Amino acid sequence: MSWKLLYEYVYVPYSQNKSACVVESKTGRFYAGVRIENISYPLTIPAVQAACAICLSEGEVPAKIYVDDSDSEQLDYWAKEFELEIIETENPPLDKLEDLFHNSDIESDPLPKLKALLDKAVIPNSDFPVSALLFTKDGYFEGVNVEVSEWTHGICAERVALAKAFAAGKTEFTRMEIHTKKGEISSPCGACRQVISELLPYHELKLHHADGTLSEHLSIDLLPFSFKSSALKK
Ligand code: THU
Repeated sequence: MSWKLLYEYVYVPYSQNKSACVVESKTGRFYAGVRIENISYPLTIPAVQAACAICLSEGEVPAKIYVDDSDSEQLDYWAKEFELEIIETENPPLDKLEDLFHNSDIESDPLPKLKALLDKAVIPNSDFPVSALLFTKDGYFEGVNVEVSEWTHGICAERVALAKAFAAGKTEFTRMEIHTKKGEISSPCGACRQVISELLPYHELKLHHADGTLSEHLSIDLLPFSFKSSALKK
């Protein structure tokens, strides 16, 4: 199997630079990651960060990483952090990938799922768990926040859910639901709003606040007058 399939799933409208990888966990499970760019370049999710964070968000620890290029962005950091064995290959183990899409409808009440999901957050630095559910018309992806020793290489729950969806080639989203049990309101950070505004531009965001209340928004309303420039698209 070649990287071709995952290259179809990358989101690289600004560089056309296709990048994908597969992480194998200590227990022998396989998770893919693809590059997801953002019009604000520094918010781009490199494939390696995506795959490692997805693995951690599933309660697993990365052990090996299959890459298409040993210069892959952030590879040095993640390899050192988890003492990864790096395998540069043209034949990634795509037939063994975990299926992280939950093919069921929990439309009626996703809150119990969001609450249970908080336990999966990897939060050694903040002790502030966040959960997100990213819906398509026939199911959803789960996301929790993942923190590592380098704070800037951690990733929010919303973006973990997006990273899973892109790596699975499912990008026809319907809405996202977000929850945290601490703090006054559950609300995506500015960086997530930027990413969400590009990938779910006019979609519904349901915010399940710590006090049990719910507010519903359109993503466009959460980031008015956002950064755009047709000059950046290739
Ligand atoms: N966090 C999220 O997961 N989503 C947000 O939109 C806000 C922030 C996480 C990131 C980090 O793990 C912790 O909350 C504190 O910033």
